[in-house]
Amino acid sequence: MENNFTYAAPYLGRQSYERYSEDEHAIWAELVRRRTPQIEQFACREYLEGSRLVGMEEARLPDLKRISERLLPRTGWTTTPVTGFLPAQAFFEMLANREFPSTTWLRDRSSLEYTPEPDIFHDVFGHVPMHAHKVFAEFLARYGEICAGTRDPDVLEQLGRLFWYTVEFGLIRQGGELKMFGSGIISSHGECTNVLEGRCEVRRFELDAVLNSTVKVDEIHKVLFAIDSFDQMYEALLQAELKFYYAAPK
Ligand SMILES: [Fe+2]
Repeated sequence: MENNFTYAAPYLGRQSYERYSEDEHAIWAELVRRRTPQIEQFACREYLEGSRLVGMEEARLPDLKRISERLLPRTGWTTTPVTGFLPAQAFFEMLANREFPSTTWLRDRSSLEYTPEPDIFHDVFGHVPMHAHKVFAEFLARYGEICAGTRDPDVLEQLGRLFWYTVEFGLIRQGGELKMFGSGIISSHGECTNVLEGRCEVRRFELDAVLNSTVKVDEIHKVLFAIDSFDQMYEALLQAELKFYYAAPK
């Protein structure tokens, strides 16, 4: 795909789909099989619908080109292969252009439950189905635009928390039940079970509370937040934008 990235250009990669081994496809299938019972019961309906819309397969690794062909006409998003972890500005630039950076490597059998660095299972199985949802898709693009437009480290840290407690570890109440949509919960049995077994306090989503909640990347969560709707999450982002815009020194 044509692009004019300034910061992200050095990190763009390609997915050599035909080079995945049968063993890698089998690991993917095993990962999906392990997550399916909790997902069928506890993933939000938008995730489940998105998974079907993007054509996620249980038995084969996802082909990012085919996924993008299905997403693009729906929300303007693509899933774009990158070579690894992106610096913040490169990440924001890609989001602002509606290209979600995805790794292409897959964890091995010794780390089915957890990888410190995101892999294609986290990036695609966990994140991409939500990109088929129009409001979520707008949130993500706007988030990228806002973050790309600031260099203030305090603002970026607070906005990072908003991302963490929604896109990565977000929960939502639907029909009186707690459901999940954050990639880190969708793709992790441990994080999901932690919530379902009540070992994590689930607070009502409130912008200021989220912006003030520090992120601990190396611990299972003790506090998470549940939105009432994706509109609420989008509105919160607009509020955050106003708040930081007016707080900025002129
Ligand atoms: Fe993620």
